[in-house]
Amino acid sequence: MNLLTFDTHAKLHESGAGIITGLVQTNPRAVLGLATGGTPIGIYEEIVKSYQRGVVRFRDTTTFNLDEYVGLPEDHAESYRNYMNMHLFNHVDLPRAQAHIPDGNAADAQAECAHYDKLLEQAGQIDLQLLGLGHNGHIGFNEPDHALISGTHIVELREETRKANARFFDSMEQVPSHALTMGVGTILKAKMILLVVKGEDKAEIVHRALTGPITTDCPASLLQTHPHLVVLMDSEAGRLFQ
Ligand code: F6R
Repeated sequence: MNLLTFDTHAKLHESGAGIITGLVQTNPRAVLGLATGGTPIGIYEEIVKSYQRGVVRFRDTTTFNLDEYVGLPEDHAESYRNYMNMHLFNHVDLPRAQAHIPDGNAADAQAECAHYDKLLEQAGQIDLQLLGLGHNGHIGFNEPDHALISGTHIVELREETRKANARFFDSMEQVPSHALTMGVGTILKAKMILLVVKGEDKAEIVHRALTGPITTDCPASLLQTHPHLVVLMDSEAGRLFQ
């Protein structure tokens, strides 16, 4: 596990973007696992800047997002499809057919999950999986539970997750109750995992996840078992490691 702490967000974002664009420069056919939420926005901004400077291209790259809300129209401001369009896809040359996000409006959610797993299997291993961290230790939308599911599945979001994400909606009632998410099995199969954690409010959970017991009560603790985990933290989130 390689833990890196940054004293400014600018440095953290540049480093995160550098790891991702470096991979795509050396392997243009890379398969990237992508995350949404507040944490990676600055990293996507830096990736777009690199693309605009002409130092990286995404024509041959394939991406798989971790998750999508159930029941939000695709063009809803807070759908993860819309988020990815706004922060990355609209600004780079990644062909849309190669940018995969689970369809949260599929009539048959189980079939959609099976289809997503099929696409992942066909793409081969994810080369790099970008992750944020939930306050309760979730990764993707794999919430703390007595057991975790390996493949893509439908999940009922925990109250604390809906509350945390309510900041992006007008009210808590508008936050969807369910999501489709990649499972922990798929996440852990990635060749490299890039976990990004920012803010004092994540200091305890990131410390517990990376140094505490490995338990399904804290899904991110399973990352301790991964052979190639890189963690980027701001100094607030990394406080307990010093
Ligand atoms: C997003 C995702 C979530 C977030 C996590 C942290 O695709 O899967 O696990 O990474 O909820 O969210 P932020 O970054 O908003 O604190």
